[in-house]
Amino acid sequence: MMQKGIRKNTVVVGISGGSGAAVGKRVVDLLLEAQVPVALTASNAGRQVWQQEMEYAFADAVKEWNHDDRFSFHPVNQTGSLIASGTAPTAGMIVAPCSMATVAAITTGIADNLLRRAADVTIKERRRLVLMPRETPLSEIHLENMQKLARIGVSIMVPAPAFYLHPKSVDDIVEYLARKAIDALRIENTGLPETLIYTGMPENPTSEE
Ligand SMILES: Cc1cc2nc3c(=O)[nH]c(=O)nc-3n(C[C@H](O)[C@H](O)[C@H](O)COP(=O)(O)O)c2cc1C
Repeated sequence: MMQKGIRKNTVVVGISGGSGAAVGKRVVDLLLEAQVPVALTASNAGRQVWQQEMEYAFADAVKEWNHDDRFSFHPVNQTGSLIASGTAPTAGMIVAPCSMATVAAITTGIADNLLRRAADVTIKERRRLVLMPRETPLSEIHLENMQKLARIGVSIMVPAPAFYLHPKSVDDIVEYLARKAIDALRIENTGLPETLIYTGMPENPTSEE
């Protein structure tokens, strides 16, 4: 029998220990709002950083999301989870935020926790993998790892704000980043609702006078 929430259009979301837990949270919220099934996993460091950055507990967020039939949470040490297998049909995976440690593990195929294994599976099944790696400055090691992933088609979405959209708040920036990450799944090819396609250009673009 299928575990809760693993359907063909399920998006796997991984929250790892980079800074930017709010983006991972908003990705989950947006997908659920659009009635897209979400299978969430979070590394131990991801939960720790969430604790430090967010104003409420990760466990409370999971509790709330769990009210939605389309949501399933997969503990990072649960190697028997369906998202550890390519047999579970998914529409792809977003890791937001993605730590440099997780980038390195994915690059080298070290699938030593469920989040990293799910990313490994996404690559081997040739599904869309979107990473939001966050670190600054980036070392040659970080850049080489990301280059290797980009070359095999992984989408590297650095959390760079769109200043041309004149964000008024951190929430505006988080909203933009979360929507761009979802868009990078190439949702037009996955059967996900078109409402998720990002069209957020400024209403009154500044003309160059
Ligand atoms: C508050 C806090 C912020 C962090 N921010 C980053 C970051 O932006 N990028 C990064 O690569 N690691 C960051 N780290 C370090 C990672 O959490 C650490 O390397 C961890 O081992 C990553 O494990 P994971 O890849 O399993 O999540 C941060 C750690 C803490 C406690």
